[in-house]
Amino acid sequence: MQQHLTIESKLISTLDDVTPAVLSAMAGTQDPRLRTIMESATRHLHAFILETRPTEAEFETALQWIAALGHHTDETNNEVVLAADVLGASTLIDLINNDGMQGETMSALLGPFYRGKAPDCSCGDCIARSKTPGPKLFFKGRVTGVDGAPIAGAQLDVWQASPVGLYENQDPDQDDFNLRGVFRTDADGSFHFTSVKPAGYPVPTDGPVGDLLRAQRRHPMRPAHIHFIVSAPGHKTLITQIFSDTPEALAGDVVFGAKQQIVGDFVEHREPHPDYPDVPLPFFTCEYQFRLTPGEPSYPVPPISGTKS
Ligand SMILES: [Fe+2]
Repeated sequence: MQQHLTIESKLISTLDDVTPAVLSAMAGTQDPRLRTIMESATRHLHAFILETRPTEAEFETALQWIAALGHHTDETNNEVVLAADVLGASTLIDLINNDGMQGETMSALLGPFYRGKAPDCSCGDCIARSKTPGPKLFFKGRVTGVDGAPIAGAQLDVWQASPVGLYENQDPDQDDFNLRGVFRTDADGSFHFTSVKPAGYPVPTDGPVGDLLRAQRRHPMRPAHIHFIVSAPGHKTLITQIFSDTPEALAGDVVFGAKQQIVGDFVEHREPHPDYPDVPLPFFTCEYQFRLTPGEPSYPVPPISGTKS
């Protein structure tokens, strides 16, 4: 009888019983960080459910939406990363881990279109590998420490969308690895490459993230930008984007990634320039100094491979 009462006392009978029961079930988690994260996630998830009191139909809709994130994720599209981006989660994670307080260049989210393994390039190479519309862009700069000392041999992994609004992995009209390339700095920390001026583009809207944006009456546009991963031995890897767009477009970034410090000075040239002879007008130049802080380099796992198997 005593045993029966003990078992019965552990059974769930009210809303208040659920959270303690789940936390108790997780109490044996050995990894302390996993235990902390999952206990907090459970408490917040239960509080969210108790606050909003979803109907069973709403719960089914939510589960279907989460499942659809997986169904719309493949080698060329990562809907899970995109969902984290449009909900502001990626930018929160970015700001927690990269506050820029040591004088380093501000970071920005990786986004869903980094595929890694881009071709090695020499300084000055053009990353437009197939016919790509848009005015030419000459981008140059330096990679330094926060003290301004040049970093030789730093690696810059560069990628951007075509001005048609698509990354090459989304667009059969672009060559493989169009607008992607890896550069290294010279002895004085300098680098330069040629491309086309980036344009704003919509994030993919043919999946569950698009459904959510439409339901929330949100536009899908990102301001024009070029992605960079800048890395060097002895320095924390910088994942960032350099922006070029109107103040309205920057403030309205659908993934909340634009920051003032990483808006580039893209200069439009409407007259011939002696440094850039025979270049069709107009063309653009941009110069930017990336500053790295000391630390351990690390590289992100690409959200996509870019090639359909
Ligand atoms: Fe992007």
